[in-house]
Amino acid sequence: TKINVTTRSGETRSFAASEGLSVMEIIRDGGIDELLALCGGCRSCATCHVHVDPEDFDKLDAMSDDENELLEGSSTRDATSRLSCQIPFSRRLDGLRVTIAAED
Ligand code: FES
Repeated sequence: TKINVTTRSGETRSFAASEGLSVMEIIRDGGIDELLALCGGCRSCATCHVHVDPEDFDKLDAMSDDENELLEGSSTRDATSRLSCQIPFSRRLDGLRVTIAAED
């Protein structure tokens, strides 16, 4: 299983993704450090914001009210915005495409 991540400079990288980790953890483990994820996945910082490819968006579980509220504070939010720490990676997300959101 793998995921495809587009960085802020527009470069897309593809790497292996393990089930059980969050998409945020997979991106960080893949060596992409521009995803700050300052709170470490506690759903309190919103610096792990990604835009999910519209074709993949419906494969994700619905977001919680807390995630929705945190994203509301982001000026770069769009219809497929998610907090990557709140997306548990699983086999059915194989090939997931995400783009790291611009800094707020
Ligand atoms: Fe802080 Fe996701 S890492 S909200």
